[in-house]
Amino acid sequence: MNPSSAPALRAALVAADFTYDRVAEVLGRRGHDALGRNETAPGLAQTRGGSPVETLTRLFLLQTTVPLAEAERALPGLVDRLAVDGLLERSVGEVAARLDCRPYSTGDDDLWVVSDLTPGLDGGPHRVGTDHVLGISPASTSLAQLTIREPVGSALDLGTGCGVQALHLARHAGRVVATDVNARALAVTRFNAALNEVAVDVRDGSFFEPVRGERFDLVATNPPFVISPATGERLVYRDSGLPGDRVVEDIVRTAPRHLNPGGWCQVLANWVIERDRPWDERLAGWLPERHDALVVQREVLDPAAYVELWLKDAGLHGTADYRTRYDTWLSWFDEQGVEAIGFGWINLHAVDADAPRTELIEWPYDVEQPIAPAIHAWGGAARAVAAGIDADAHLSARADVVQETHGPVGVEDPETIVLRQQVGFRRARTVDTVEAALVGACDGDLSVGAILDAVAELLGADPATTRATYLPAVGELVAEGFLTTGLTT
Ligand SMILES: C[S@@+](CC[C@H](N)C(=O)[O-])C[C@H]1O[C@@H](n2cnc3c(N)ncnc32)[C@H](O)[C@@H]1O
Repeated sequence: MNPSSAPALRAALVAADFTYDRVAEVLGRRGHDALGRNETAPGLAQTRGGSPVETLTRLFLLQTTVPLAEAERALPGLVDRLAVDGLLERSVGEVAARLDCRPYSTGDDDLWVVSDLTPGLDGGPHRVGTDHVLGISPASTSLAQLTIREPVGSALDLGTGCGVQALHLARHAGRVVATDVNARALAVTRFNAALNEVAVDVRDGSFFEPVRGERFDLVATNPPFVISPATGERLVYRDSGLPGDRVVEDIVRTAPRHLNPGGWCQVLANWVIERDRPWDERLAGWLPERHDALVVQREVLDPAAYVELWLKDAGLHGTADYRTRYDTWLSWFDEQGVEAIGFGWINLHAVDADAPRTELIEWPYDVEQPIAPAIHAWGGAARAVAAGIDADAHLSARADVVQETHGPVGVEDPETIVLRQQVGFRRARTVDTVEAALVGACDGDLSVGAILDAVAELLGADPATTRATYLPAVGELVAEGFLTTGLTT
């Protein structure tokens, strides 16, 4: 890959209107959905018009050969040059793609991302080379949605792959460093940075090694987290070469040395859940001192299902030694006492606090995406609670919180009252009449103490006792995001 070809390729992609929306349009709903299932026939039927956007879609996304004349029209004067660069392959009258190049919508605008071709289209071979450079995967999107998008001075993308996280980070970080051990990934990331006209400092080396002694405001990483005995062939895009979940533990333990004060490290990860041990106890042991930490377990996988998932991902389903590999991997899980595998998010916030807030939650529920603003708000709330919320605090109820009451029909007082958030984590909290009235009255005007006194008077209760009983709950309501202080991190 030669980054000097990137400006001309960019110009051709712009001229062809090769954007996410336009590609979805030419593929049509059926072609687009089928491609999501790795099937190309409906998309091929839809894109026979010969326009540049159709040609590029056929070439890169549908992986079919296109006539040379059409390729020349879509990529004027570039076909031979891109063939030399390794992006295309040219025969006498036809052109095929050797790498993928596709539009990627960030929501605000379009980027283009080059990666290795998607394996397994139309049931074709799934096996990839050990140095395969993954395109935009569901995990890439999850991390992109998790990453806090506040303006920062510096950001680090560990294990950059095709560089998709670095491209995102470059939009809100003054300086972006991206590391990887795969030389092909480094070349692709350099090319993608040039293609998208952003500066990324791409460095060769293992995880934090190339940034020794450096600190960042934000570290975002989707590391090669697949949990295995690490004895077989290593697919570098998913296998760290370290046994078990050591790679994630190492990142969590090392990250604090690379965070500026106030910085965040956000990790998408798998972790081992040991037999007879609560998942959060083990994870809590990794968390650094003086850092707030929010760990969210989103999914729990059974070891057998996990082995199947990753053997299929490697294209080994149906091969002669599939059963042996399956058995070896699963037996290793059993020997290690692995009960299940957790998948989720680890967020560390360098707050330098004597009593940091650590919260480890199992949260398989639907959340609002992107979840990043909710993570950022959690950080602000954690600090506000640490600073102390007393009776003089002026708090506001979050605008999206609604009250649900449950009880027999026609009865005056409900049996239960639930406050439910409509956005972010969409947490729910069962409250009593006093807490509900308190949250309802919090609009930043009256202090919490004054509101509790008024509620006590209304209910004929003792104001001092009401304050003593409910002030601790006020801290919880702030920490969980039902009430806000207006403080941000
Ligand atoms: C799951 S991919 C993530 C790619 C990309 N960041 C994304 O979000 O899609 C993991 C990446 O980590 C890289 N990697 C593997 N071992 C590494 C190591 N020891 N140090 C740095 N990167 C490594 C792989 O080459 C791969 O690009």
